[in-house]
Amino acid sequence: MKVIKEISSIQDISDYYRYTGKKTALVPTMGFLHPGHTSLMLKAKDENDIVTVSIFVNPTQFGKNEDYSKYPRDFQRDYHICEKAGVDYIFNPDVNEMYGDNNLTTVSLSSITDKLEGKIRPGHFTGVATVVTKLLNAVKPAYLYLGQKDAQQNAVLKKMIIDLNIDTEVRICPTLREESGLAMSSRNTYLTPEQKDKASVLYFILNEGKRMILDEKTGDINSVKDRIRKIFSSKAPEFELQYYEITDNINLEPINDLNLYKGEVLISVACRADTTRLIDNVIFHKE
Ligand code: PAF
Repeated sequence: MKVIKEISSIQDISDYYRYTGKKTALVPTMGFLHPGHTSLMLKAKDENDIVTVSIFVNPTQFGKNEDYSKYPRDFQRDYHICEKAGVDYIFNPDVNEMYGDNNLTTVSLSSITDKLEGKIRPGHFTGVATVVTKLLNAVKPAYLYLGQKDAQQNAVLKKMIIDLNIDTEVRICPTLREESGLAMSSRNTYLTPEQKDKASVLYFILNEGKRMILDEKTGDINSVKDRIRKIFSSKAPEFELQYYEITDNINLEPINDLNLYKGEVLISVACRADTTRLIDNVIFHKE
């Protein structure tokens, strides 16, 4: 496994593999890797010849009062995880390599980025879309592997890839969970053991919403949301529920009459446990 720091070097390597007909994949990360990332690397390795993992804590996707400087970092640990998973290249540029000192260009999408996470974290998805465009232009992968946990990020990146005619196909892999149901995330390290325990409420209310829609055939989105808010405040009164939304999984528009809707349903949730934000989702099909 090689560590590459320069964009021009990873581009030369990628060109070589593309011209020699190899199947190439990128797993983009901000490091501090956990088993969720490993599952993406293993899947990518299983389905491709060459796998690159990018490790770059992207400053432009963090808001002013967010955790950019304290975001957990441990390159040596990440290196060993990648090596064990059979990764071929780690692309690990520094901030100057990615943005230089006069970056004037950003990639932003309308409507799809105004809701859910975008409403709470203005500018976040412009940072994500910009850095992922730059990573795709550097690594030029045939396949981009993303975890289901960041459902809105996935919808944004899928749309961006279509709109900008980028020659990469997105593959979404299931969310890995702790035994309690808590979705794995690098930010879980901020949680106290008690908060971690309580945080399993997110997966519980996602499944409860799914059950109300599929088993109880509740059609009115507001009845589902009202009941979920009550469950949340009785199970985790010390957490703040930021949103619980039931939408389609492409444009992320609310589904008002669930009984009439056919297609993929996305239930997204976000909460704050003291200063830590947690997000999660479930996706299911409705006939
Ligand atoms: O999901 C993440 O870790 C980041 O948003 C990504 C896709 C690596 C872009 O910085």
